[in-house]
Amino acid sequence: MNRVRQGAERLLHRNRRTLRKNGKDYHFTCPDDIMYQGQWLWDSCFHVMALRWFDPDFAKNELRSLVSGQWPDGRIPNMVHLRPFYRRFEHFTGRDTSGITQPPILADAVWGIYEITGDRAFLEEMFQPLCRYHDWLSVDRDPDGDALISVYHPWETGIDNSPRWDTIFGVDPAKFKRWKFNIPKTKLIMLFNFVSGYRSERMRRVSLFDVEAIDMNCYYCRNTATLARIAGELGDGGLREKYELRSEDTAQAINTKMYDPATGAYYCLEGRGERMLKALTPFSLLPLYAGIAAPDRAERLIAHLSDPGTFWTEYPVPTVDIKHPAFDQVQYWRGTVWVNTNWLMVEGLRRYGRQDMARELALRTIAMVDRSGFREYYDPFTSQGHGAGHFGWSSLVIDLIETLDRES
Ligand code: GLC
Repeated sequence: MNRVRQGAERLLHRNRRTLRKNGKDYHFTCPDDIMYQGQWLWDSCFHVMALRWFDPDFAKNELRSLVSGQWPDGRIPNMVHLRPFYRRFEHFTGRDTSGITQPPILADAVWGIYEITGDRAFLEEMFQPLCRYHDWLSVDRDPDGDALISVYHPWETGIDNSPRWDTIFGVDPAKFKRWKFNIPKTKLIMLFNFVSGYRSERMRRVSLFDVEAIDMNCYYCRNTATLARIAGELGDGGLREKYELRSEDTAQAINTKMYDPATGAYYCLEGRGERMLKALTPFSLLPLYAGIAAPDRAERLIAHLSDPGTFWTEYPVPTVDIKHPAFDQVQYWRGTVWVNTNWLMVEGLRRYGRQDMARELALRTIAMVDRSGFREYYDPFTSQGHGAGHFGWSSLVIDLIETLDRES
């Protein structure tokens, strides 16, 4: 374990970047030193969960750098400190950030640092940006007012080419080609650039992708509850209550609208008619991580996770049910294993008192990274690594190891 841990620390040092802009320095970790330069929203939050154990000061700076990209309306973009290439050819926002967003897990990242450092001043510093960010999500991204937030581009979920989106884009799973799928996604960005100017209601109008995603809503629900906790810690009872109620509303909406009793799992809702997108992926199990599934539902979710014919492969957790026609053991988010997904599953299992299974999953994840290095994604049967070669959030093994150590 020491070897993996040291490797993870080296990786996070290797991917460190410092940028000087308008007389200020920004420090962050890029997801990969070749494929993903710049700073990404949810990647940074995962980096921080690892960094906090050995360099909490850098972790704080990473979040400061991220929040420096916040827009006046409160949104936090999926990419900040965009390189000139992206500014010139992809995201025309008039800033050096993109205009779309990504999973809202920032409150947990802030809290994760606080847990270790007890630094109240940092909590205070992050509190206003967090409130503005969550208020933007709850207003701009909930156009039908049902307490579920919407996304208008697959990139906003971070799960770019999940088979969940196949029916929306008319993709035949048997003929899926990653480069082909990039065309409609880039077209959407062009529409946001030229037609909607990144105004949420117009983005919704022009986008063929209008989804209340189960994963986004579970992150949102849990992180709104974390924000309430931060408000409470800072002595603001009013805001604590506001965010607690908001999180409860979202939990209730997830449980009422997104659960399918026939298959015992939760799914995304698409379009104004809220059609269920019934592809089973581990993201269907995230109500465990959010802690909002009633015990009987949690049992069914855990049964999917532990089923060797669904998700419990040699190296779990494939990002699609292995029985699904689109499942592909080497293709990006269409069936490979990602360390962040496993980390979320471990977190969910712990929340539901399944320490043994959580431990087993953490150990297999650590073994996978030890065998194959800090890759972007892995084969669920052989652990062979694919994609980026020095991928930042695979360093989450540090957090897994730390938690295992504390439990034993
Ligand atoms: C890919 C992933 C996305 C991640 C980004 C940077 O686009 O799908 O989730 O944030 O790379 O690592």
